[in-house]
Amino acid sequence: MACKMTAVACVLTYFALSLYFGSCYSAEYVYDVFNDEDRDALYYDTFPDDFKWSSATSSYQIEGAWNEDGKGPSIWDTFCHEGGHVYENHTGDVACDSYHKYKEDIALMANLGLKNYRFSIAWSRVLPTGKIDSVNEDGIAYYNNVIDELLDNGIDPMVTLYHWDLPQGLHDDYGGWMNESIINDFNDYAKLCFERFGDRVKFWITFNEPWIVALLGYESGVFAPGINEPGTIPYVVGHNLIKSHAEAWHTYDDQFRSVQKGVIGITLNSDWSEPHDRKNYKHIFASERAMQFSLGWFGHPIYKNGDYPEIMKTKIAEISAGQGLPQSRLPEFTEEEKVFINHTGDFFGLNHYSTNYVVNPTNENYELPGYWGSDVNVPSWKEESWPQSASSWLKPVPWGIRQILVWIHNEYDGIDSYVTENGVSTHDVYDLSDEERMKYYKSYINEVLKAIKLDGANCKGYTAWSLLDNFEWAAGYSERFGMHYVDFSDDDRPREVKDSAKLYADIIADNGFIEDNTSRSLVVEGSVLLTAFVVIIVNTL
Ligand SMILES: *[C@@H]1O[C@H](CO)[C@@H](O)[C@H](O)[C@H]1NC(C)=O
Ligand SMILES: *[C@@H]1O[C@H](CO)[C@@H](O)[C@H](O)[C@H]1NC(C)=O
Ligand SMILES: *[C@@H]1O[C@H](CO)[C@@H](O)[C@H](O)[C@H]1NC(C)=O
Ligand SMILES: *[C@@H]1O[C@H](CO)[C@@H](O)[C@H](O)[C@H]1NC(C)=O
Repeated sequence: MACKMTAVACVLTYFALSLYFGSCYSAEYVYDVFNDEDRDALYYDTFPDDFKWSSATSSYQIEGAWNEDGKGPSIWDTFCHEGGHVYENHTGDVACDSYHKYKEDIALMANLGLKNYRFSIAWSRVLPTGKIDSVNEDGIAYYNNVIDELLDNGIDPMVTLYHWDLPQGLHDDYGGWMNESIINDFNDYAKLCFERFGDRVKFWITFNEPWIVALLGYESGVFAPGINEPGTIPYVVGHNLIKSHAEAWHTYDDQFRSVQKGVIGITLNSDWSEPHDRKNYKHIFASERAMQFSLGWFGHPIYKNGDYPEIMKTKIAEISAGQGLPQSRLPEFTEEEKVFINHTGDFFGLNHYSTNYVVNPTNENYELPGYWGSDVNVPSWKEESWPQSASSWLKPVPWGIRQILVWIHNEYDGIDSYVTENGVSTHDVYDLSDEERMKYYKSYINEVLKAIKLDGANCKGYTAWSLLDNFEWAAGYSERFGMHYVDFSDDDRPREVKDSAKLYADIIADNGFIEDNTSRSLVVEGSVLLTAFVVIIVNTL
């Protein structure tokens, strides 16, 4: 008996000790400031087998060769050459020189283990004037070469038709996106791309971030074409973008889908708007209003019912009336147009970088007509304590991406979503050990995993922005978003691998997050001991 008691005590002690060490396995956090165990602890699991890992770039930001082989000028060429708009008057004239170095870029992608690559076609490279009667075969050949090289490396292209570089000719002729003549010209261009590339491209994105096109291009004017007309014009631009998208979707659906068997959608961007106090219904309404004014502006017509969100329609009408205008500044779709636009997205592309807290709106303000001046009217901010990137607008808040993916899933009836951009900027210094970017990717990708596995969001792919340091629009080369360093002072634009690329390659290779097996072995040991313990107790009795 005594012997048995000693044995039991012995095993008990050992078991207690191993449980103790086993439970030393504690929650792991990427950022000190985000350390709520239920929300922020790293989550170990893998992504679905067919999850699409990708990385992205865009034509004007990487290609260079702005006037080579017959390419026509775009509004970004003009905007940069004008001077006074971009940090130190930087331009995309050479950028990463990917027009000449695409094979090297694709070798970098192959090293990452990418299965997909998202890039955009420069409209004025294939149609120098923007019009269908100006086909430039050299431009077509360039994209054929890129696509073929990708496929040779086992990488599927995801192609954006419009990533902000409108042919200058269309802007000069009739005001570009401000005029509905653009719908026809965009459709001709899209159709040309389906005809020439659609045998190999199976994933099409019509527009990248129409919200930015409308607001930064035409309301604040800080992006090309630099028009500063808050109030009505940005909504007209948005209207023409939505109609152009729908037209191109129908063209694909009617004339190409049955043979080419691809998918076509749009990429929308938004921060997540987190109610500051989730128990305050006014904060929840504020979050909903902010989300409908950002994602809903384009998402609601395309994915929901062919029309703008109710809150946008009622608020802009009310505020326009308060401003003494005879009609709403937000244009209306005809019934026929609503039917035509309804459900013209095969998937939802999301570009997401950061999060804000929001609180209830104050009284409506009629003084400054405009999206920001009067219409959204939701006070928002980023906490001081959140980490800061090199971009003023970008603070990493990893849990926000989980919230926004769930919002999209619920709002748009479980549609397939893809993260088509996500990433972070660092300052313009030579630093290959980019720990801040590693933290960002690790935590954000982990939150995407939680959205899928814990919340059931139908997210099918993740795209890291960006493959390379590149031309960051009005910030020029002062902010670096790449997993590969590019030396812009060297004519040869050499690329170097940063540590974040290695981390991303590891996550892709593991298809997610595999728990450290040190702690796992303790857990296993614990259960073996539990069995032994039960056996001994049973024997003792
Ligand atoms: C940029 O261009 C503007 C307009 O031409 C000029 O006034 C300004 O001095 C330029 N800045 C730099 C840094 O070259
Ligand atoms: C739109 O462009 C057409 C030419 O394509 C022109 O006739 C028309 O006046 C323009 N409309 C507006 C509102 O500028
Ligand atoms: C949009 O599509 C939904 C679902 O198919 C349908 O119920 C609704 O009536 C459509 N609305 C319009 C305006 O076509
Ligand atoms: C963890 O697993 C790897 C590969 O499966 C193995 O090489 C390594 O020895 C393991 N480490 C521990 C602590 O068990």
